[in-house]
Amino acid sequence: MITATEFPQPAASVSATAAAASPVLRLTDIEKVYQTKTIETLALHRVNLTINRGEFVSIMGPSGCGKSTLLSLMGLLDEPTSGTIEVDGRAVTSFSDRELAGLRNLKIGFVFQSYHLINDLSVVDNVELPLLYRLGLGGRERRQRALAALDKVGLSARTGHFPGQLSGGQRQRVAIARALAGDPEIILADEPTGNLDSVMGEEIIELLLELNREQGVTIVMVTHDLQQALKTQRVIRFFDGSQVG
Ligand SMILES: Nc1ncnc2c1ncn2[C@@H]1O[C@H](COP(=O)(O)OP(=O)(O)OP(=O)(O)O)[C@@H](O)[C@H]1O
Ligand SMILES: [Mg+2]
Repeated sequence: MITATEFPQPAASVSATAAAASPVLRLTDIEKVYQTKTIETLALHRVNLTINRGEFVSIMGPSGCGKSTLLSLMGLLDEPTSGTIEVDGRAVTSFSDRELAGLRNLKIGFVFQSYHLINDLSVVDNVELPLLYRLGLGGRERRQRALAALDKVGLSARTGHFPGQLSGGQRQRVAIARALAGDPEIILADEPTGNLDSVMGEEIIELLLELNREQGVTIVMVTHDLQQALKTQRVIRFFDGSQVG
């Protein structure tokens, strides 16, 4: 578990407070249409949303209402059909593909319902993986960062295990460590407890809450669990591709 002494960053928490109202992500008039041969799906419609630095926001809504689509746009993994996405006040369309990939790698950590770990790699190698794309990071530093991230999620004793040797909750902790190793400003979590029982799910939520509180990581989490959502600072509800509350 994370303790205050593991995150001795008073400057960071002061700046997180001071910057509480500064938008890190802003979506304006977003439409997302998926076109297949036979069907056109309006997945998002007139979405206007601002995520401020240091916030922990949950996204709720029925299956198929566009939550994962929204997260993939926020994570710069996909582009809207129309509308504007701004990161730190700069329109994403003004970035080159290369800048965009760099921005995604440096700024954003992803956590998915099904963990997306590589079963043939050890826990620590999985956590190191996104750091391979960081120019200027040597092997030793990568390993140190990965071990530090695993320590933060309470998995120091499991670094040499393989994903198949871990419980679901532990696997999700590895995925969170992988997101954390890159020191991201934003974590986008798509139903991070969807495959977990309520006890393990609770642990993961507590971990995310601590990361938000202690490190000021901005978190956007999709969840179907109202109790979890109510622990976060803001709940945004979607229905049929539009924000309803
Ligand atoms: N790649 C795609 N191609 C075509 N249609 C898609 C694609 N991805 C999503 N859709 C459609 O867009 C709509 C929104 O999907 P999305 O995955 O965002 O929903 P969701 O709210 O995350 O649902 P769930 O709670 O089941 O995960 C759905 O109707 C879905 O079928
Ligand atoms: Mg989804």
